Amino acid sequence: MRHDRTIAVHGHMEEDVYGSIIPPIYLSAIFRFIDEDHAIRSDRNFVIKYTREENPTLRALERVIARLEETDDALAFASGMAAISTSIIKYVESESKVIVPIEMYSTTLQLLEKLSSKLKFKLVKVWPSAKDIVEAMDRNTSIVFMEVMTNPTLKIIDLKYVCENIPNENTIIIVDNTFTTPILLKPAKLCAKLVIHSVTKYLAGHNDVIGGVVAGAYNDIRELWDWRRIMGTLQQPFEAYLVLRGIKTLDVRFEKESRNAQVIAEYLNEHPRIEEVMYPGLSSSEYHDIAKKLFLRNLYGAVVSFKVKGDRDYIVRFMKKLKIIKPAPSLGGTESLISIASAAAAKYIPPEDRRRLGITDNLLRLSVGLEDVNDLIEDLSQALT
Ligand SMILES: Cc1ncc(COP(=O)(O)O)c(C=O)c1O
Repeated sequence: MRHDRTIAVHGHMEEDVYGSIIPPIYLSAIFRFIDEDHAIRSDRNFVIKYTREENPTLRALERVIARLEETDDALAFASGMAAISTSIIKYVESESKVIVPIEMYSTTLQLLEKLSSKLKFKLVKVWPSAKDIVEAMDRNTSIVFMEVMTNPTLKIIDLKYVCENIPNENTIIIVDNTFTTPILLKPAKLCAKLVIHSVTKYLAGHNDVIGGVVAGAYNDIRELWDWRRIMGTLQQPFEAYLVLRGIKTLDVRFEKESRNAQVIAEYLNEHPRIEEVMYPGLSSSEYHDIAKKLFLRNLYGAVVSFKVKGDRDYIVRFMKKLKIIKPAPSLGGTESLISIASAAAAKYIPPEDRRRLGITDNLLRLSVGLEDVNDLIEDLSQALT
């Protein structure tokens, strides 16, 4: 089993006693247990006695994630933020330095701001580029937390360059791979100690479940497992099943949605009512070459950000006039969704940083879904005019 497409469909493998092809949903909080010597163990040899610790349905999902990210193991969490907060709490050292780009999912930034004063570490926010991250890294840096495709202006950060310049072994790189997915990037193969996803987005892919995962080396995941157990941040079995089901079609969805996004970005780029299109798939984008170099396939993701010429009133009318594309936060699902960046993903980026990054009030983020691309273009066209 070598190709991601096959792994996505069969990677959970471990049939139950009945030979069920689809993993059963173990909706049981408890399992038979007398003592460790007589316990039932999961495939990674952890005791299965209580779902907060280990559950066979979560294991099925975790096995697929680890294979897709090419890591030893993985853990399923209740949400992307549960995965992020548990990982940061486990790895952060007080008095150390944590580096983040000023642009990333802004709830992650908010979490780091709040934790830095409580846990007494120094949060250093830098311009979202590999060069700026590397310049800020020193021997006292415990964590660099980054996304490779930033949200919402879709800048591309050269993870390879960051990996080549880690100052010492105490500095760990954590990559939120939500926007790029394992189809475009496998950060652990470059140097990331942990790879995180909000599976709410592409991996589950149907806008019907919240979840997160972390992938990494065996020992790291073992230690993080203990933090998940203590903090109780695990995913529930039914949700894990939905994610597992969604992953089977990740490849076809992501490819089609990315191709739709490319067509839409090119269409918007020529539209007189559009001030600017941000999409690394456009050959005119300053991030096109680095994306091409870094990504494993000739695809550039399914989010297109663009600025509309007009005030807030015009933008609200435009969004209300859309018939197929729905105004809602989130991304990566089968339905095309649109949001005002400053009111959604970038809400907690401070106004001064937003200004520097070009996150103006007329910046919209479109998550392109699986609808027919001509229908989507027609929808945008009628709403813009
Ligand atoms: C890049 C990224 N990371 C993390 C998250 C948080 O994930 P969740 O909403 O599943 O907690 C989001 C949510 O939008 C996101 O876009």
